[in-house]
Amino acid sequence: MTVALIVAAGSGERLGAGRPKALVELAGRPLLQWSIDALQDVESVTRIVVALPPGTPVPAGVTGVDGGAVRSDSVRRALAAAGEDDLVLVHDAARPLVTAKLAATVIDALRSDHDADAAIAAVPVTDTVKRVDGVGVVTETLDRSGLWAVQTPQVFRRGALERALRAPAEDLALATDDAWLIERGGGRVIVVRASDENLKVTSPLDLQVAELLLAGRRAGEA
Ligand code: CTP
Ligand code: MG
Repeated sequence: MTVALIVAAGSGERLGAGRPKALVELAGRPLLQWSIDALQDVESVTRIVVALPPGTPVPAGVTGVDGGAVRSDSVRRALAAAGEDDLVLVHDAARPLVTAKLAATVIDALRSDHDADAAIAAVPVTDTVKRVDGVGVVTETLDRSGLWAVQTPQVFRRGALERALRAPAEDLALATDDAWLIERGGGRVIVVRASDENLKVTSPLDLQVAELLLAGRRAGEA
């Protein structure tokens, strides 16, 4: 069985809405609620724990904890409030277009690969990616064929995630995803091909795109 942790405690500086990103209204619901609704529809998910900005009301049907100063603190606090499930799914509230189907596919991928410590949603990179030095000069063009942009959900064997989160605070503060903490210790992380639609809301433009996509989805359901 799987516990789902949603990290929603960020301040949303880059969105600039003047309040935490997870609480910003998106197509008629708080941004966070879209992820809760999707993950509640995943059969093997027994419980959802959400790391929230301190003082935020806890949404119905989930366990709420106060988030920490950096993302991995929020993951750690949410994990501490989770039950005994053997798999842990970690999802960013900043990806409100996640679907129950994608989450179930990532969970199944990890269940099917007994040697893997984690399975993560990702998409092949379509832009050409260059390394640029501090004064704006290109120093390298990366071989795009092996590059994937990673997303959440990321699903972990519980022991592997617990070990990874025992890393020193300096390393945890640098981690923009949890899988990195596993890879760098030699763990096996597999990717599951997801969709560009599972976008991350960072800027006001992302919010507009998410709004259009979710409005379209709701029109399709009606
Ligand atoms: N997050 C969290 N606790 C933190 C920082 C981030 O739970 N201390 C969560 C965010 O709520 C988000 C996810 O981690 O769902 C990814 O972070 P990001 O997109 O960077 O969100 P924010 O940190 O809120 O945005 P910004 O960096 O623009 O302030
Ligand atoms: Mg952030």
